[in-house]
Amino acid sequence: MTAPILALKNINKSFGPIDVLHDINLEVRPGEVLCLLGDNGAGKSTLIKILSGVHQPTTGTIELDGKEVIFPAPRVAQEAGISTVHQFGGTFPLMSIGRSFFVGVEPTKGWGPFKIYDRARANAIAVKAVQDMGITRITDGDRLVGGLSGGERQSLAIARAVHFGARVLILDEPTAALGVKQATHVLRIVNEAKRRGLAVIFITHQVMHAMAVGDHFAVLIRGAVAADFRKGEKTREEITDLMAGGASMASLEGEIEGYMATHDGHPPQAVQA
Ligand SMILES: Nc1ncnc2c1ncn2[C@@H]1O[C@H](COP(=O)(O)OP(=O)(O)OP(=O)(O)O)[C@@H](O)[C@H]1O
Ligand SMILES: [Mg+2]
Repeated sequence: MTAPILALKNINKSFGPIDVLHDINLEVRPGEVLCLLGDNGAGKSTLIKILSGVHQPTTGTIELDGKEVIFPAPRVAQEAGISTVHQFGGTFPLMSIGRSFFVGVEPTKGWGPFKIYDRARANAIAVKAVQDMGITRITDGDRLVGGLSGGERQSLAIARAVHFGARVLILDEPTAALGVKQATHVLRIVNEAKRRGLAVIFITHQVMHAMAVGDHFAVLIRGAVAADFRKGEKTREEITDLMAGGASMASLEGEIEGYMATHDGHPPQAVQA
C-alpha cells in the first residue's frame, strides 16, 4: 500500500465543555477514496474543518507526507494542497463559470495573464477543465454558476480543485441534495479525481453512494471511529446498521419494503402516540 498523504493521530476536539471528537486516527492515501460515514451530529463536519484549517484540534496531530503540520487558517491548508468542496459546490451564483473558476487564485502565484482579467482565456480554461473531468455538457464559460444544476456546480468545484493542484479533495455531502442522475455524475467525477491520484475524503449519509466510490470506510459514532474497514469487508446491511449506531436499520428497511410490497406501494402509517 502507498504511504498516506494525510494522517490524523489521536485527534481530540472540544468546544468548551463539549467533547466532539475522541481520539481519531485515520489515514488517507493517494488514489483512494475514504468515505466518512455517520449519523447527524457524529462529528464528520468538525473533523473535516480540522483538516481544512477552520478549527484546530484540542490535542493530537496532523501529518502531511509523514511530517507534522499545523493549519491555523483555511488558507494554510489550501496551500498545502487540501481542497474542501462544501455542499452546493461554491458560493458564487452570480459569477460566470470562467470568473468563479479563478476566484481566490492569487495573481502573484504565476497567474500573470490574469492580473487583467482575460475573459476568453479564463472561460476556455474553465470549460476545458470541466470537460476533461468528463462533464461535456458545460460548453459556455459565460454561463452563470447560479444557473447550473446542483450536480454541475459540484462538478465545477471539483474540477477547479483538481486543476489548481489539490492533492487531497474533501467533499462534504456532495450528493445529498441531488437526484439519481446528478449524483451519478458527481460520483463519476470523484472516480476521475481518484484515478488522477488525488486522495479523496467523501462524506455521505447514502450507503449506496459510499459503496460506489469508496476504497476505505470510517464510521463515526458520537465523535469516535466506531469502525474502520476496506472495500468488500462489510455488506451494505452491516454498513447501514453501523451508521444507525448499531440499531438494526437494515432489517427495519426490509420490513418497510416488505410492507409496501403487500400494500400497493404505500409505506406503513406512523403510529399515533
Ligand atoms: N462550534 C461548535 N461549538 C459547540 N458545539 C459544536 C460546534 N460545532 C459542532 N458542534 C457539535 O459537535 C457535534 C458534531 O457536529 P458536526 O457538525 O461535526 O456533525 P456532523 O457529523 O457533520 O453532522 P451532520 O451529518 O448533521 O452534518 C454536534 O453535537 C454539534 O452540535
Ligand atoms: Mg456535517
